[in-house]
Amino acid sequence: MARQEDDFKKVISHAKEYGYVFKSSEIYDGLSAVYDYAQNGVELKKNIREYWWRAMVQLNDNIVGLDASIFMHPTTWKASGHVDAFNDPLIDNKDSKKRYRADVLVEDYVAKIEGKIDKEVAKAAKRFGEDFDKEQFVKTNQRVVEYQERATTILKRLGKSLENEDLADVKKLIEELEIACPMSGSKNWTDVKQFNLMFGTKLGASADSAMDLYLRPETAQGIFVNFLNVQKSSRMKIPFGIAQTGKAFRNEIVARQFIFRMREFEQMEMQFFIKPGTQKEWYEQWKEKRMSWHLSLGLGEENYRFHDHEKLAHYADAASDIEFRFPFGFKELEGVHSRTDFDLSKHQEFSGKKLQYFDNEENKNYVPYVIETSIGLDRMFLAIFSKALKEEVLENGSTRTVLKLPSVLAPTKAAVFPLVKKDGLPELAKEIIDDLKWDFNVLYDQKDAVGRRYRRQDANGTPFCITVDHQSLEDQTVTIRHRDTMEQQRVAIADLKAIIKKEVDMKSWLMKMK
Ligand code: GAP
Repeated sequence: MARQEDDFKKVISHAKEYGYVFKSSEIYDGLSAVYDYAQNGVELKKNIREYWWRAMVQLNDNIVGLDASIFMHPTTWKASGHVDAFNDPLIDNKDSKKRYRADVLVEDYVAKIEGKIDKEVAKAAKRFGEDFDKEQFVKTNQRVVEYQERATTILKRLGKSLENEDLADVKKLIEELEIACPMSGSKNWTDVKQFNLMFGTKLGASADSAMDLYLRPETAQGIFVNFLNVQKSSRMKIPFGIAQTGKAFRNEIVARQFIFRMREFEQMEMQFFIKPGTQKEWYEQWKEKRMSWHLSLGLGEENYRFHDHEKLAHYADAASDIEFRFPFGFKELEGVHSRTDFDLSKHQEFSGKKLQYFDNEENKNYVPYVIETSIGLDRMFLAIFSKALKEEVLENGSTRTVLKLPSVLAPTKAAVFPLVKKDGLPELAKEIIDDLKWDFNVLYDQKDAVGRRYRRQDANGTPFCITVDHQSLEDQTVTIRHRDTMEQQRVAIADLKAIIKKEVDMKSWLMKMK
């Protein structure tokens, strides 16, 4: 646990030191769970967004984009169920006065049991070496089976109590498991209460006529209320999807994991409209498609898993999370939800406007069913950034800090250095920059010895460093160094564009999707 916390602290401080993420309004001591993206962060975030948009909108001829407003008519949130049901179960510790999400306390307890399973598996893998059959071991080892049964029983009971709104049983579960407050160690808990997560605001100048609004807690509703406008103007036929990215706001209670859980964050969501009765098939397809998008970035298959929900949100008939191994353990990165016709039917009911589709083949009208894919851009940022940050021990015994971002997403693709600050080398380096900058983000650096400049760019996540030396003036060649392997090659300046493009081109990365 201490090692995990240490690793996570390193991620946060690296993000600050290298201009990726800062606390919001830091000079005023920051604002809890609100963050700003700095010069490198904004580029990484933009590249992730672009990578998602291309995979969803550009590569699927039956998906189109949308950019709906953050403010929506307040009835939207009554219809969607957010006013009545977008709640978290809260519990306070009477001694530390700290407030927690009751379900998270229980889930953290279960994560500890899962940690014990991982330890048993690692021990056995070491003992049995190459002959180790993990699947067999997990199924048959008495201790692991017991741990697993315990974890499943606890999660099932939590799911059932939450679904039945039986908050007294959630408290009972916390007491039975003897969960203590992480701050004070005390088990002196209040009752569990529901707390609505939406931020309210007002539209209009005068106090009497002002209208109560909410900041949207998800981008999805902007898609639902525009469903028919988009369908008609694009002449899309079912099945088809609408995708959008944008800010969402939630008054989160547990907001302590950097950009994992924020109060202002960005979502990338897609609603896929389908014929009722086909939802199972499309749900499975989208689970697979989204997993394949994640795997295309090469962060390691072992870092992802599906977690099918026991407790379903008020709108879903099936739901699964794609979980990622964050520095603090496996946690939700993306949700794939089978939302039935809940949202469109509710908007139809509350607005009095028909939101139906006329199916030519069936010769009838119906309210489409929906499969949703929903991922937090900031959470995806954290997944990539935390997995990319490495401390490597080199052959000469020294260590280097390197940010092995997938090169397609790296903020800067190449840094160009003159070996020395004279003899016409800076001029040639700047000429190279002036040529490359039309295609890639590139930067110039002439400060310090070349070795230190390499280290700086390794830590910055820059995939290539290009060094201009005296030979360059004679034969128009330079040295190009690869971040991950540290290998250096002598190449023609005229070939630089093609070499960089081959490595960072979005097309070749996206083509890795199945
Ligand atoms: N429209 C469905 C929806 O919003 P969700 O599971 O509440 O579903 C979807 O959120 C995704 O949005 C999550 O998987 C997560 O990546 C991201 N997300 C949710 N709350 C977040 C928060 N407070 N901070 C950062 N990302 C968040």
